[in-house]
Amino acid sequence: MKPTTVTPLFFLLLLFLSSSSTSSINVNEPSFISSVISTHGLNFLKDLLISKAISTLTPLQIPHIHQSLQIPFLGNVFVQLSNISLHQIRVSDSYITPGDSGVAVVVSGATANISVDWYYSYSSGWYFPFQFSDQGLASIQVNGMQVGLTLYMEIQDGRLKLSLLECGCFVEDLSINLDGGASWLYQRIVDVFAEQIESAVEEAITKNLKEANLKLALYLESLPKQIPVDDIASLNVTLVNNIVQSDSSIGFEVNGLLIPRGQAQKHEFMKDNLLHKKDLFTRRDQRLQLKFREELLQPVSCRDSSKMIGISVDEAVFHSASNLYFEAGELQWIVDKIPDQALLNTAGWRFIIPRLYKQYPKDDMNLNVSFISPPFLRISPQSIDVTADVDLIIDVVEGGQVIPVACIFLEIHASGSVEIRDNNLGGKVKLDDFNMRLKWSKIGKLRMFLIQPIVRTVIETVFVPYANARLWKGLRLPMIHGFTLENAKTNYLDSSLIVCSDVTYLELKDQA
Ligand SMILES: *[C@@H]1O[C@H](CO)[C@@H](O)[C@H](O)[C@H]1NC(C)=O
Ligand SMILES: *[C@@H]1O[C@H](CO)[C@@H](O)[C@H](O)[C@H]1NC(C)=O
Ligand SMILES: *[C@@H]1O[C@H](CO)[C@@H](O)[C@H](O)[C@H]1NC(C)=O
Ligand SMILES: *[C@@H]1O[C@H](CO)[C@@H](O)[C@H](O)[C@H]1NC(C)=O
Repeated sequence: MKPTTVTPLFFLLLLFLSSSSTSSINVNEPSFISSVISTHGLNFLKDLLISKAISTLTPLQIPHIHQSLQIPFLGNVFVQLSNISLHQIRVSDSYITPGDSGVAVVVSGATANISVDWYYSYSSGWYFPFQFSDQGLASIQVNGMQVGLTLYMEIQDGRLKLSLLECGCFVEDLSINLDGGASWLYQRIVDVFAEQIESAVEEAITKNLKEANLKLALYLESLPKQIPVDDIASLNVTLVNNIVQSDSSIGFEVNGLLIPRGQAQKHEFMKDNLLHKKDLFTRRDQRLQLKFREELLQPVSCRDSSKMIGISVDEAVFHSASNLYFEAGELQWIVDKIPDQALLNTAGWRFIIPRLYKQYPKDDMNLNVSFISPPFLRISPQSIDVTADVDLIIDVVEGGQVIPVACIFLEIHASGSVEIRDNNLGGKVKLDDFNMRLKWSKIGKLRMFLIQPIVRTVIETVFVPYANARLWKGLRLPMIHGFTLENAKTNYLDSSLIVCSDVTYLELKDQA
């Protein structure tokens, strides 16, 4: 059985080989994650595809051939070539040519070996006819084999639609080696069968490539438009707009926003809540065409490098995450353990907030921390700035009852950084600064200058590590199974970040 593992690979390759006859950029839908495959990436994928195609194609069984031949002195001879099996394809040259009417992938100067079982029989003698037969092996070398495909790919309904425009195989020449057999046999095989073998090989390869392509087209149609991130969110990987290609690279765009997991319908609140939504889309529309040409097809930061792939992630992706987790009620939690546990008992506050201690002597406390709006993130070439507005409610736990006693509003400024681990875009934040003010209190006026250092410690030792533990899990970048980013570098641009990376491929088992 042929391994089915070939499909994801084909998918990725063809994704990048896709072409669009309407080469104008049709910007009609916003996209927040886009990828560009460079010449290096395309060559890597092409070579991978070819080696994969070879291992899928070989050994290739070719239908047997037989014929009755008129041989001098022997008469009518039945000759059959069976168990014709093609193996050991070697490719010396291959290339990809993108064009308006499709992308041509051409393999030229390939060689292969064919093993054949030959058999012949004839009857002889007029009065006492007897049957004579013989059999043996032949090895055939296929020279100058060319294989060409023209593929057309377009984005339709958020998915890739693949069509095979042309597919052909041409065998230039065979050299035949016979083990045993009569010399007439050798000559007849060369004269009569060589052409038939050639066309049988051509047909078999063409047929197999067409089948592989059909399988791939179906695989593409079955790809999900959403990738689960966790219990709450999925990444919307619906493909949008046209595939963009230059003579050296190919780019495509996905929606790229986080959406509630399992949400089939469009969620209006996501769009409405996108911070800066007003200018976000118009600004994007204006700069998208420019962006695609200048930032994506030649990502500023990848331009001088030999990286295979550039992935651009707009800060709107992070806004959508921020909104989604906020709406889902995920951005609040109760802190009842801190490094300096003494601070979670009113006794620890005896001298700082005497009234607290007086009212609730030696009671345990906890901190109810909640974001009052989605944290906001801004990417600039120098940094990633994060702002979070947080209510810190101080609770006293008295006889199993939780009593909120004061609420401090915090405006926290942090700087973020991202790092790629495998295909994950993980994040980290560091506290820069914060402002605080008392919102309300049931324990009188608090002396904020005394509380400030304690709050700072809590932010640094509790909030930040907590946030980092979650951010570190990160966002899985949309990569096809089996492909992993390697030696990735991240650069910040104005309102987006770009990951420039190489890619490795590891065969996965049972990949549908
Ligand atoms: C077909 O050829 C292969 C390789 O030469 C050989 O191993 C195999 O036994 C053959 N099969 C039959 C049915 O003759
Ligand atoms: C296949 O062809 C190559 C090139 O002629 C030859 O060196 C090699 O021995 C062949 N292999 C087999 C198994 O016939
Ligand atoms: C996913 O993105 C597509 C394309 O932008 C959009 O049409 C669709 O509504 C989005 N899905 C959800 C659930 O938001
Ligand atoms: C934490 O405070 C919020 C108000 O900011 C409140 O809605 C929530 O119930 C509190 N949680 C707990 C567990 O007390």
